Amino acid sequence: TESNNPYIAIGGQEVLNELVDAFYAKVKLHPKLAPIFPEDLTETARVQKQFLTQFLGGPNFYSEEHGHPMLRARHMPFPITEERAEAWLQCMREAMDEIKLEGPIRDYFYERLSQTAYHMINQ
Ligand code: HEM
Repeated sequence: TESNNPYIAIGGQEVLNELVDAFYAKVKLHPKLAPIFPEDLTETARVQKQFLTQFLGGPNFYSEEHGHPMLRARHMPFPITEERAEAWLQCMREAMDEIKLEGPIRDYFYERLSQTAYHMINQ
């Protein structure tokens, strides 16, 4: 059934967009994260919306525009410590709280983001 698709279960593009916008508003203010991100996060947020759509089983917008994600390789230019991975995840939890994303879909999504975040550590 369609509820087996996490992208549908989370509420589709509208909810993902809200989450990503809330997330980068926090990244922008985080002293450990802001210094490694661009000043203007408009493009960063646009690409992250594409990626997370695909990550959750929605349309493959990210790969259509950028090719294979190769996320770890794409993060190599940025020094990602365990502390920064935890800061990233903290911003994500706060964004989920803000948009009131709750229940099993939140837990499932957060768990997958957490695995990916720890995989990005390169310092
Ligand atoms: C790009 C940091 C974890 C997905 C980036 C960029 C930075 C960054 C600095 C470049 C932004 C730009 O130039 O616009 C971090 C840090 C993380 C982290 C500090 C902590 C572990 C993650 C996770 C995901 C993710 C967990 C996905 C679940 C992406 C994507 C891009 C990106 C899709 C765009 C890649 C592209 O250019 O095509 N990240 N990231 N990141 N990040 Fe992360």
